[in-house]
Amino acid sequence: MRRLPPSEATGRWTGARHALPAAYGQTDLVVLGIGVMIGSGIFSVAGRQAATMAGPGVILSFMIAGITSLLVAFCIAELSSAMPASGSAYTFAYVIFGEVWAWIVGWALVMELLLAAAVVSRVWSLYAAQMLVDLGVRIPEPLSGVIGQERGFDLFTLLILVLLTGVVALGARVGLRTLWIIVIAKLAAIGAVIVVGATHFDQDNLAAIPAPAEPIKTASAALDSPLLGLAFGQTTAFGWFGIFAAAATITFAYIGFDVVATAAEEAKDAPRSVPKGIIRGLVITTVIYIAVAIVMVGMTPYKEINVEAPLASAFRQAGEGFMVHVINIGAVLGLTTVVLVLLVGLTRVVFSMARDGLFPRPLARINRGYHSPTTATLVIGVLAILLAEFVPVLTLEPLVVIGTLFAFVAVAAGVIRMRRTMPDLPRGFRTPLSPYVPIASILASLWLMVNLQVITWLYFLAWMTFGLLVYLAYGRRKSALAGGRPPLEPPVAVRGGLRGRHRR
Ligand code: ALA
Repeated sequence: MRRLPPSEATGRWTGARHALPAAYGQTDLVVLGIGVMIGSGIFSVAGRQAATMAGPGVILSFMIAGITSLLVAFCIAELSSAMPASGSAYTFAYVIFGEVWAWIVGWALVMELLLAAAVVSRVWSLYAAQMLVDLGVRIPEPLSGVIGQERGFDLFTLLILVLLTGVVALGARVGLRTLWIIVIAKLAAIGAVIVVGATHFDQDNLAAIPAPAEPIKTASAALDSPLLGLAFGQTTAFGWFGIFAAAATITFAYIGFDVVATAAEEAKDAPRSVPKGIIRGLVITTVIYIAVAIVMVGMTPYKEINVEAPLASAFRQAGEGFMVHVINIGAVLGLTTVVLVLLVGLTRVVFSMARDGLFPRPLARINRGYHSPTTATLVIGVLAILLAEFVPVLTLEPLVVIGTLFAFVAVAAGVIRMRRTMPDLPRGFRTPLSPYVPIASILASLWLMVNLQVITWLYFLAWMTFGLLVYLAYGRRKSALAGGRPPLEPPVAVRGGLRGRHRR
């Protein structure tokens, strides 16, 4: 139950330890958020959920997940405005609830970000391979079985992860300008999807009401149904159960606004810019998602949506061959920034946990040459590669989501608790209508969690139990607060990731 003193987490407010050089302005944070949010959620997950779970109701699913994310975003905004620290939810929990809760939240975040990076890099490979095929590039025979694969070894997945790990590990500067250009290209592709797709909109496609959910008949159907569905003996597919189940999985598309909080230490005027950056990025993304969802289910009857390449195949069927290239290129560029920002965010969280003694000390070491937590980055990169190559990650998006929602609950509870226990801690932003908004955030997150599959819950419980054992065996004794290492270090400057010479 020992807690990190608030002064250790307030970073820029107080000039406490590890103050990072400020790099991001408010608009940069919006771009960062859009850069990490818009990815495989809209390019891949949305179509699968429409075809198999919610039908045209996927539009509602996007709204439900978007509203939940917005509620939580207010809470994250308040905490990161008070504690602009790179550990984000992990650090908030350490200050507000104590070490064991911090560990649990941090462990869930590690799963979220690591698995998300693995999933999105696989989707990147699928799109990159498809882009080559659509451009008429002949793939040599020996390579055709090892690129763009959903399972098993995949060369493109390996290449993108090695490349991006290298970028982060070497502290190589991916200039903000580069990020801006890629995000603008991604938005242009999505904008084209909305505008051109609207010309093929057929209202009748929205009127096709899918069948209601069916009773669960087999044990494997029980594992695949949402926890809530199991309670009612219903499968996931279609009807209201389907809409909520799809909303839960679609939360994957919104993941990333929370990652912006890990950049708080590097933001200019963080107490004000981070809250605005998080909320504005999320609002823009939500509007875009709802528009794309309307177009997607308006263009194609939901039963005909191609689950592997939903947007591209809808345009191909509509005779808009050019749009297929636009989507492929937009996705390949867009997914690159998603993986990159996820890896940077994860590096920050692992670095923070190691600095506090909960992970081995070398993971908090800053490489003097590259000014970057190189060791942590390399370990993360290797783990992401192993995960992406040897685990069928494309079915594991819900596991990413459950870890995220769990952290959301902790953050929202943190706002309520912090208002009571630390009313005077300076905040640059206050959650409106507290405690109602935090309570609504907790309820909405829990609601989405119980709409995730039984099998997802089992994996999650196994991961968290393993995590607790690791804590008992290691972190509890080695924690800096337990005297497991010398007191906190003097300020160090961590650099690397998405900053650099091209600062705006
Ligand atoms: N929100 C990110 C995506 O959809 C993780 O790819």
